[in-house]
Amino acid sequence: MTPHFHISRRRFLKTTALVSASLGIPKWFVEEAEAARRHTNKLGPNDKPGIAWIGCGNRGRVISKDAAKHGEMRMICDVDDAHLAIGQKEHPNAKPCKDFRQILERDDIHVIVNSTPDHWHTLINIAAVNAGKDVYSEKPLTLTIDEGRHLVRAVDKTKRILQTGSQQRSDKRFRHACELVRNGRIGKLKHIMASIPTGPHQGPFATAPVPAGLDWNMWQGQTPAIDYVPERCHHSFRYWFEYSGGMMTDWGAHHNDIAQWATGSERTGPVEIDGKSLVAMIPGGYTTASQFRVEYTYANGVKLTCKDSAPDNSPNGVTFEGTDGWIFVSRKEIKASNPDLLTQPLPASAVRLYHSENHMQNFFDCVRSRKAPICEAEIGHRSVSVCHLGVLSMRLGRKLKWDPKNEKFVDDKEANKWLAREMRKPFDYSIT
Ligand SMILES: NC(=O)c1ccc[n+]([C@@H]2O[C@H](COP(=O)([O-])OP(=O)(O)OC[C@H]3O[C@@H](n4cnc5c(N)ncnc54)[C@H](O)[C@@H]3O)[C@@H](O)[C@H]2O)c1
Repeated sequence: MTPHFHISRRRFLKTTALVSASLGIPKWFVEEAEAARRHTNKLGPNDKPGIAWIGCGNRGRVISKDAAKHGEMRMICDVDDAHLAIGQKEHPNAKPCKDFRQILERDDIHVIVNSTPDHWHTLINIAAVNAGKDVYSEKPLTLTIDEGRHLVRAVDKTKRILQTGSQQRSDKRFRHACELVRNGRIGKLKHIMASIPTGPHQGPFATAPVPAGLDWNMWQGQTPAIDYVPERCHHSFRYWFEYSGGMMTDWGAHHNDIAQWATGSERTGPVEIDGKSLVAMIPGGYTTASQFRVEYTYANGVKLTCKDSAPDNSPNGVTFEGTDGWIFVSRKEIKASNPDLLTQPLPASAVRLYHSENHMQNFFDCVRSRKAPICEAEIGHRSVSVCHLGVLSMRLGRKLKWDPKNEKFVDDKEANKWLAREMRKPFDYSIT
């Protein structure tokens, strides 16, 4: 059975609220004092942050090892015993648990590493910042645009540090490309091509008994409860709309983030989106597009295309095309229409971007300095919003007009309904 959330914090607030009511002190005042108490949980220069890792799957094994270099791994959590056992091998001194809410009660845990599937990111991240923890959360940061606004508000209110796991920002090739584009090295930027891997086009898939040791109800969380299908669960959850957005959010969260970094649009977004799924879904199969092409237009006229690589076998990476040349950047290389575009130094007056060469290090540096990390919540939210917008345009099968300031579709009730999704109780904001 799932225990109630934050029992001790809730009880504390209820008790103090009763006492304060009798003294004539308003509830909000008490809540603010409690929030401040949690936020003064600062680390001294020689203190090691206590870390907890939630979601002991593939990606988490990489980043939890990385995080453990900067502190002490004290708890690990997974809803599947088999993955928890793998996590324990990585971090034998950490206490295992199957419900992340137990972690949030502990005052000796300062940092959460969240590598759960996408549909769990936001609720865990908000609950963590509300409990006074700093968070390194995997991308794509959210399942919906509305979740992103909730998350940014919670991070701002609690003054917590949240790093989005968009580690390409801490790769010098990507920063180099973005600085060159920002400083006009390829002339006037016209078009950006974000080419990402093609997704699997498979199914139908059959149901199966829930494996022993997997809490399938908790794994599904806010999403509609259905019978267990192995392909819906570990790793391949990302190809189901219920839990993610397919390759569009999986890889798009990386490359569209770079596109917005290079253009300085990382706190805003496109104004028009025209997305097309290029193959029909297989009934009973994966529910996200495997092949697709989405055209975005920004207010300054710059166009961004995000597409899968199958039609033209284009390499995985981002190409910036300007009036004076092009630059291509990927995790393997950076190249340009003319190599001089890359080698000529930028002038002293050039715009410089946030400099980080190690994404996890940057996060822990910010945990100590309380400065914003390189991919803070607002940026992570805006980057994945670009992907969500593309997915929604594909699903609705038409062009959409977007107001990035108010984060609403323009005069489009049908599309605006998709900004949020119904959350299956009890896995909604009440648990944060
Ligand atoms: N930054 C990158 O380059 C990168 C690379 C790969 C994956 N990722 C991201 O990492 C996340 C995880 O991906 P993955 O491939 O490791 O998936 P995975 O399925 O291997 O791992 C997810 C784990 O979370 C567990 N889990 C699910 N719900 C949970 C809950 N409520 N509490 C605790 N544990 C829970 C699952 O049981 C599983 O062990 C995804 O959001 C993915 O997009 C990022």
